[in-house]
Amino acid sequence: MHELTSIAALRERLAAERRAGRTIGLVPTMGYLHEGHISLAHAARRKVGKSGKVVVSIYVNPTQFGPKEDLSRYPRDFKRDRQFCRNAGVDAIFAPSDAEMYPGCGEATDEPAREDARPTFSTYVVEENLARGMEGVSRPTHFRGVTTVVAKLFNAVLPDFAVFGAKDFQQAVVVKRMVADLNFPLQIIIAPTVRESDGLAMSSRNRYLDAEQRAQAVILFHALQAAKQAVARKAIPATKLKKDLQKFFTAAPLGTLDYVEFFDPETLQPVAQVKRGTHMALAVFFGKTRLIDNGRL
Ligand code: PAJ
Repeated sequence: MHELTSIAALRERLAAERRAGRTIGLVPTMGYLHEGHISLAHAARRKVGKSGKVVVSIYVNPTQFGPKEDLSRYPRDFKRDRQFCRNAGVDAIFAPSDAEMYPGCGEATDEPAREDARPTFSTYVVEENLARGMEGVSRPTHFRGVTTVVAKLFNAVLPDFAVFGAKDFQQAVVVKRMVADLNFPLQIIIAPTVRESDGLAMSSRNRYLDAEQRAQAVILFHALQAAKQAVARKAIPATKLKKDLQKFFTAAPLGTLDYVEFFDPETLQPVAQVKRGTHMALAVFFGKTRLIDNGRL
């Protein structure tokens, strides 16, 4: 398994693979890997075949964190991630530094700017429609950071396809839109959410939860299941379904609901009537930890 930290070295390595006619699949992550991430690497392997190359990027991207979010305490453990990747048969890890991804940023000194100072990074990719609702309301600069870093990763790796998890459904839809709008020559694959045995969606942020919060965190999954059952046979007004789901949130007093939305999975537009096939997404705070989940009803 190769480990690369510079875009130049990565490009050189992958150019040789491409010349040899090998398919390249990319799995972008922020590390602190778990079975959810690994399932994406397995999906990539199935698609590239034995001779193709699976690249996992590990980069905690500062531009997608808000000023009051958990960037500095985001969990990191490169040794553990490396072992996970090795076990999953990953061919290369791309783990760049901040200076490699955002040259000139975060290198401020007290000295006055010199005339020949290196310009700081100043180009962003912004999706202007699908990124506005849900996560975009609670985290207004989040998707701008995601689309920017993902575009950079696509340009660095030039993969034939990239795999994203359904766990972050809005992210996957926004990235798909960016790829279509900006003509990136690659395919986006969305792989299913991997869950703990009680139903909690796996997430690097689950480690922030204490035992009591962890026990109550399963309400996200329970609310999704209950909504699915409720609309299995008949459509229900979104306002009524939201009220009906309140009992799950009262049953978890350590959780504070951020949002619950029912929407069309293509356009992400909220619907007035919830029925089979409508998508549901929700976000719940447990202390400072914000958990999200979603599913097709
Ligand atoms: P991260 O949260 O590390 O997630 C990396 C990928 O793993 C995403 O596509 C996410 O949807 C997927 N994933 C996370 N938990 C999962 C689960 N339980 N089951 C299946 N897939 C899961 O998402 C990001 O990083 C970043 O925003 C990134 C795309 C890397 C850009 O910085």
